[in-house]
Amino acid sequence: MSHRSPEGTEDTAGTEPTYAGHTEPQGGAVGLEKQDDAFPGETRTDVKFSELVGQTHTAAVLDPLAPPVLSVSNLKMYFPVKSGGVVRRTVGHVQAVDGISFEVPEGGSLGLVGESGCGKSTTGRLITRLYDPTGGSMIFDGQDLATLSQKEMLPLRREVQMIFQDPYSSLNPRHTVGTIVGTPLRVHNMVPKNKVLDRVQELLEVVGLNPEHYNRYPNEFSGGQRQRIGIARALALQPKIMVADEPVSALDVSIQAQVINLMQDLQKEFGIAFLFIAHDLAIVRHFCPEVAVMYLGKIVEIGDRESIYSHARHPYTQALLSAVPDVKQAVIGGRRERIRLEGDVPSPINPPSGCRFRTRCPIAQEICAKHEPPLLQIGQRHKVACHFPGEIGQHPTEPLTARLLGVDNAGSPDPGATPSKDLVTKPGYDDTWFDLDTKTFGRA
Ligand SMILES: Nc1ncnc2c1ncn2[C@@H]1O[C@H](COP(=O)(O)OP(=O)(O)O)[C@@H](O)[C@H]1O
Ligand code: SF4
Ligand SMILES: [Mg+2]
Repeated sequence: MSHRSPEGTEDTAGTEPTYAGHTEPQGGAVGLEKQDDAFPGETRTDVKFSELVGQTHTAAVLDPLAPPVLSVSNLKMYFPVKSGGVVRRTVGHVQAVDGISFEVPEGGSLGLVGESGCGKSTTGRLITRLYDPTGGSMIFDGQDLATLSQKEMLPLRREVQMIFQDPYSSLNPRHTVGTIVGTPLRVHNMVPKNKVLDRVQELLEVVGLNPEHYNRYPNEFSGGQRQRIGIARALALQPKIMVADEPVSALDVSIQAQVINLMQDLQKEFGIAFLFIAHDLAIVRHFCPEVAVMYLGKIVEIGDRESIYSHARHPYTQALLSAVPDVKQAVIGGRRERIRLEGDVPSPINPPSGCRFRTRCPIAQEICAKHEPPLLQIGQRHKVACHFPGEIGQHPTEPLTARLLGVDNAGSPDPGATPSKDLVTKPGYDDTWFDLDTKTFGRA
């Protein structure tokens, strides 16, 4: 594992620059970022994204026939934890990302949502190969990004770009905007040297900045403008996919919508696929026709917009949704209050056995401590990892997964049962799935 973060250089967009005196803020402008404030009742500032974004820009639609541009399978990142003292031994691992699988369709957009520390940024940094994964594969353009050497990765860096959370620390304060946006063009020989400035100015115009301002320094711009510079830098290489890691959470609420709109326009215009990371289901709702919900290094539920926002079956997704103002009513019916989760997010060094959410889950039972729930496809484009998947207040009383796992309802081995072979989690969706009503695998 290594973190290739060049100090004070901007020469390869796709590696994250960090600069002395600038650190990534832990808290964002919106809601669920700080762990202590995960569900802070009425104290959280709700973003009216539906109103802000909905005015001029339509939400992205899903093309179910689009082939995947990126197919991630069983991806893992374990960071070693070292002991103190002179001989630093590895005493454990932070299981930041622990076997996640998903696809991003060509020109599509997948939202990756969850509380702070659940492994979202690590996932983004694995895809852009700022980290070397502990395991799994990431198929892009027929190649496995997970196993390529840094040299082999170089041509692909063009195609896989990242927009960082903090527009203050991700731009080198000592470089002009022209250098920041122009360097990737030069490094990757995108245009002849005498055309770099023209291209930089075009890019600045595309992202809504004054093309004459190429000679200015980042500190002469506002946060929103800086994020536009970051987007121009990522856009310079005409990538096939962009990983946007909470690209607006460091920005003022009114600016957030503008930057989202810009990304949405660019996505349509250039057909760029997005992995859009957010800690808030409100933001990705308008940007992403598909959403994956993460908890403590695992994907707990993934599906199209309709499945996630109107038919969530996982207690964690339901809790997150209850904090989104305009879907709150639809999800929790007459109950207007937010679903509050008890306790803190456990440590990813020593996560709970079985289902990692069980220590905070309001409906956990014995089997939850014994077996990890499989990420089961339960609809055409909907998967959930819970032994008791169901609507709020209508979760089944008996685990739906017991028979599939070959155990009894308490999770103890059932000598008469054979575990199902259908439980291996694949990145995409199958034509058949587990029907929650009939409790059998079938086709729609
Ligand atoms: N370089 C690292 N070394 C060790 N632990 C890390 C490193 N980066 C992240 N982590 C840990 O991995 C977990 C996931 O972090 P991260 O991916 O940043 O979460 P998120 O982006 O969802 O807030 C956290 O517990 C974090 O402390
Ligand atoms: S598997 Fe059990 S603990 Fe996990 S979310 Fe479902 S009910 Fe809760
Ligand atoms: Mg993060």
